[in-house]
This record gives sequence, C-alpha cells and structure tokens, in this order.
Amino acid sequence: MSPGAAGGGTRAAAGMRAAVIHRYGGPEEFRAETVPEPVAGPGQVLIDVTLAGLNYADLHCRTGEYARYPLPAVLGADVVGRRRGDGRRVAALLRSGGGYAQVARAEAAHTVELPDGVDDEQALALLEQGATAYAALTLAGRLRPGETVAVTAAAGGVGHLAVQLARELGAGRVLALASTPAKREFVRALGADRTLDPGDPELADRLAAGSAPGGVDLFVDSVGGRVLRVGLDTLAPFGRLLSIGSRGGVEETFSVDELADRSAGLVGFWLQHVLADRVLFAGIAERLFRLAADGRLVARIDRTVPLSGVAGAHRALARRETMGKVLVDVHRED
Ligand SMILES: NC(=O)c1ccc[n+]([C@@H]2O[C@H](COP(=O)([O-])OP(=O)(O)OC[C@H]3O[C@@H](n4cnc5c(N)ncnc54)[C@H](OP(=O)(O)O)[C@@H]3O)[C@@H](O)[C@H]2O)c1
Repeated sequence: MSPGAAGGGTRAAAGMRAAVIHRYGGPEEFRAETVPEPVAGPGQVLIDVTLAGLNYADLHCRTGEYARYPLPAVLGADVVGRRRGDGRRVAALLRSGGGYAQVARAEAAHTVELPDGVDDEQALALLEQGATAYAALTLAGRLRPGETVAVTAAAGGVGHLAVQLARELGAGRVLALASTPAKREFVRALGADRTLDPGDPELADRLAAGSAPGGVDLFVDSVGGRVLRVGLDTLAPFGRLLSIGSRGGVEETFSVDELADRSAGLVGFWLQHVLADRVLFAGIAERLFRLAADGRLVARIDRTVPLSGVAGAHRALARRETMGKVLVDVHRED
C-alpha cells in the first residue's frame, strides 16, 4: 500500500510510523519513517496496530516480483490491533499491504474479532498461515482420516501449523520435512511421526518408509523444485500433490500421463479464494481460534522485531533461520 493513499475522505491524515520502501530491492530498502495514516474507504476499517506479521510472500513483494504497489510503499499482509470506532480487538489480512505500520487499513470482510482466550501474538500467527494450512489440508487437499500427510518447510510459519492441524484432522501419519536438526526436533515435538531432511539424497525412500503402504496420500509443498518431484514420485494411488507456494527455484513439470499412472491429483491453493468468501474465512478463523483457546493448536513465535528491525527479519527468513512466525512490534524502534 502506498503510504497515505486515500481511500476517500477529505480531512488531512495524521502521521504514523511505518517501515517504508522507496524502491524495490533488498532488505536494506526498509526505512522507519513518519508517513500519513491511511484513510478508510467504503467497506474498510482502520486498525490501530499492536503487532504486524511477516510472511514469506513479503520477500517477493519487497523485490517487486509480486504485485507492484505504488512507491513509496508499506508492505505487510497481516496485523492485529484495535479497530477504530469500537475499540474491539481484531486481526486482519491485508491484500494490498500496509501492515508494517502503526495504523492499517483493512477490508471489513477480511477482519475478524478475537476471542478473549487467544492473545494478540497467537491470533496474528494463526490467521494468514493457519488459514492457509487449514484450507490447504481440507478444501484443496481433501484430507481424510487415517491418511499419510507430508509437509515441506514444516518448521515454517505455515508448516508448523499444518503439522499440528494434520494431526487434529485425523491424519494417520505426519511426515515433516525440515532442513536442520533443530527444526526437525521442533516439528517432532509438535506431533510429527517422522522427520526428514529435504536435502537427503534418499528422501524418496525415506518418505516411502515412513508412509502407510502405498505411499503418501497428501503431499503439502511450499518449496517447489526437486522436492515437488520427489513428492509426486512417492504418492500413493489417489494421492494429491498440493502446491501452496515455491521459493523461486527451477520448477518441475509433470505430464498428464505421470499423474494418470498413479491416479494422482496435482492441486494448487491460493488463500485469496478463501478470503473471497466472507463466511468461509470467518468460519476457518473461528475454528483456528477455538483450537488455540483449547490449547490444541499452538503457534510458535520465532521473534518479535522493532519497526527498525524489519530488514533483519527479512534477512532471517531468507536465510531459513526462523521457526514459526516472525512479528513486528510497530511501536518499538531500537
Ligand atoms: N497459497 C497461499 O495462499 C499461501 C498463503 C500463505 C503462504 N503461502 C506460502 O507458504 C509458504 C510458507 O510461507 P511462510 O510465510 O510460512 O514461510 P516459512 O515457511 O516460514 O518460510 C521459511 C522456510 O522456508 C523454507 N525454505 C525452503 N527453501 C527455501 C529457500 N530457498 N529460501 C528460504 N527458505 C526456504 C525454510 O525451511 P527449511 O529450511 O526447513 O527448508 C525456511 O525456514 C511460502 O511458500 C508462501 O508463499 C501460500
């Protein structure tokens, strides 16, 4: 979102602090600056932000590979805070950025009120990445009880919730791929039956050994490239290879014959299609928050950085250093 881009109204906007980029490029482009507050248009709300979230897609937004917002721009796709007007505690997904700021403008339809049993950190870590994991497993992946599920980047923001949700949804076995011993230990503690190193040359054999006879029923991938190919090769008959993202490496291509040989499905997923349905989005958020309030779903907060630390947080995500969710305290600059 462009700082101060007006969505309506004539009153001069107040100032706020935000992490701003003036051109697309590396993490060094972020500057903590004072910019005009956004103005809400029809169907939109303003949120006094307490915490903003980082998502992997923010890295692509920063380099300009995704939607190119008008510059200067404030990135960031999820926030938690207080809604202006009624002061209710809410979290929101921002499809046009604007999260790394003290005030965010959100579509009312993409805003959910938070129950008392879920704190700001958990709510923020659950909304974008939890809704992605939940909808990917259920709506796109059509997970059935007893099935074997494999999850790539399993210690990541989406991945560590997908491991827990696969368990919650009745998966028979959960296989978690993560690149370091510490990450594998982390996902094992979350309930993964078996952990695997995505760089292991024997990965396909190890996946097969960890699966129920026949292979993996649902392979949830957010990495792409070689791992996606291994995923297809290890699918059980009627298995689904589900792609929710990629890291920009060389992409695999599959022939229809390869899919037919396994009665396999190749499925994509984009959270936008959940957000387009207000009732569906609200229902998924409610389910996630209920699981969190009951202690059955726990988001790990990797770190909370000040507004001036957004560049470092982007670097950490790119270097694969994080486990779980990275947050930005938009009221701190140290
Ligand atoms: N389809 C949708 O609507 C939707 C919505 C939200 C997110 N997503 C996608 O879901 C994925 C996860 O998002 P997230 O925000 O939770 O991020 P994340 O998984 O926390 O991202 C960091 C992790 O990605 C893994 N990774 C693998 N290859 C990498 C590489 N070349 N460079 C950096 N990291 C690499 C690393 O885990 P290891 O070191 O263990 O491999 C790393 O720790 C992303 O692809 C994102 O675009 C999709």
